Amino acid sequence: MDLERCRSEDVDAVTDFLAAVDLTLSGLDAPTVRLWIERDPAGAVTGSTGYELSADGRHALIRSVAVRPEARSRGRGSDLARFALSRAAEEGASRAWLFSRRSGPFWQRLGFAPAERDELAAALADTHQVRLFRNTGQLEREVAWTRALTPADAETPSQNVAASSTDGDGSSGGNLSAARSVSSDSASLRARPTACATARG
Ligand SMILES: CC(C)(COP(=O)(O)OP(=O)(O)OC[C@H]1O[C@@H](n2cnc3c(N)ncnc32)[C@H](O)[C@@H]1OP(=O)(O)O)[C@@H](O)C(=O)NCCC(=O)NCCS
Repeated sequence: MDLERCRSEDVDAVTDFLAAVDLTLSGLDAPTVRLWIERDPAGAVTGSTGYELSADGRHALIRSVAVRPEARSRGRGSDLARFALSRAAEEGASRAWLFSRRSGPFWQRLGFAPAERDELAAALADTHQVRLFRNTGQLEREVAWTRALTPADAETPSQNVAASSTDGDGSSGGNLSAARSVSSDSASLRARPTACATARG
């Protein structure tokens, strides 16, 4: 199954998809939010993954990692998470962070450890998710996680993550180590070189 960079015309569908799994909807169409989706042959969104970078580019807030309920527990979520980690590392981020109240064990298996939510909020103060959580008071109820992030360790040898070296949006130029393909029992993820348009404000 291919991953596509989320385009402006995908935003409504991905909003419905993320709302159904109770994930944050803010900033889905913002140029600073990197978001990929996968669809089934009928066009329904079946998975998503992404991140948002800090202003200095050193920190990545992993977000919008979701798999439709019928397709869970087959490694897809881990593949999607690793894809985002790999891309964030390729963009130059050295640390990944995320909020997750319900899926801590999933993230721990991917190398994340508990973090101070205030440290996350300081490192990623300008991101849509942190601003939303601050404004709504949700920040105080969130659970933060973090892990070091480098191109070498963001990619786990048991996975097969293939990506184009030309995203078309200027966010990930150059040769991507994410394009390295390694053997895997799980299905591969390929990112199509689609442009990320941002028609909505
Ligand atoms: C979290 C999520 C992406 C995992 O997708 P997945 O395809 O099931 O992931 P994998 O198959 O790679 O890994 C599944 C394993 O992760 C762990 N796991 C996943 N979610 C978990 C949770 N909420 N609590 C505890 N363990 C969890 C389990 O060990 C699970 O193995 P099991 O199914 O045999 O019990 C999926 O459950 C989902 O979309 N949840 C709703 C959205 C969400 O909460 N996203 C994370 C915040 S960004």
